[in-house]
Amino acid sequence: MSMRIILLVLVFSLSLATMILAGPLSNIEQLGKIMYQDLDFSFNRTQSGEALFTTHCSKCHAVSAYPDGGPPLFTSYAYENIGLPANPLLSGNPVDYGLGGFLEADFNSDLPLIGDAMYAAHYGKFKIPTLRNIALTPPYGHNGYFPELREMIRFLNSRDVSPEWPAPEVWTNLNTIDVGDMGLTDAQIDDIVQFLHTLSDRRLNRP
Ligand code: HEC
Repeated sequence: MSMRIILLVLVFSLSLATMILAGPLSNIEQLGKIMYQDLDFSFNRTQSGEALFTTHCSKCHAVSAYPDGGPPLFTSYAYENIGLPANPLLSGNPVDYGLGGFLEADFNSDLPLIGDAMYAAHYGKFKIPTLRNIALTPPYGHNGYFPELREMIRFLNSRDVSPEWPAPEVWTNLNTIDVGDMGLTDAQIDDIVQFLHTLSDRRLNRP
C-alpha cells in the first residue's frame, strides 16, 4: 500500500470516528430525549382522561412501555379501517384503499397469481399511528379529513350512531367493534382530548 493510500485511510477513519463520537451521538441523545423522555405527562394530566383512553383507545394505541423500556408510542403497529370519510377538499377526491391498495399496486405486476381477495382483506386499513405530539400535528386521519383533534374523537365515538358523519371512504373491513359507538359523553371527550395534550414533547409544546 502506498503512503498516500495509508494517509487517506487514516484521515477517513479519523473523520468517521469524530462523526460517530461527537455529532451523531449527541443527535441520538437528543432524539432519545424527545422521543422517549420528554413528555408533558405532568402537565394538566387528568386521571379520568387517562382511564378513558386506556379503556377505549389502548387496544390500538397501546399504552404499554416501548420494548426498550421507554414510554409508550401509543400504537400497536397493526392496521385497521376506522372508516374515515373521503376528504372532498383533495383534488379529484381520490379513494384511498389503504394497505390493500398499496399491496395491490406494489405486487400485482410481480405476482399475478395472487388473487384479488388477498388485497381486499386489507382494503381501507391504515397503520395505527402514534399519538405522540398529536395535539401539535393537525389535520388528522390519513387524508386530513379532520382539522380539529376533538372532532376526530367525536367521530370515533359516534360514527355509527350519529347522522352527522359522511360514509366511510372504504366500507370493506370496517371496524365496528372497537370504534363507532363508544358511548362517551361530551365531558368524557373533553377529558380524552386533554389527556392527548399531555402526549406532547415538552420542548415542542412551550408557548
Ligand atoms: C380499532 C383500532 C383503533 C381504536 C380503538 C382507536 N383508534 Fe385511533 N386510529 C386508528 C387508526 C387505524 C387510525 C388511522 C386511520 C386513518 O388515517 O384512516 C387512527 C387515527 C387516530 C388519530 C389521528 C392520528 C393522526 O396522526 O392523524 C387520532 C387522534 C386517534 N386515532 C385517537 C384515538 C383515540 C383518542 C381513541 C379512543 C377514543 C382511538 N383513537 C381509538 C385505530 C384506532
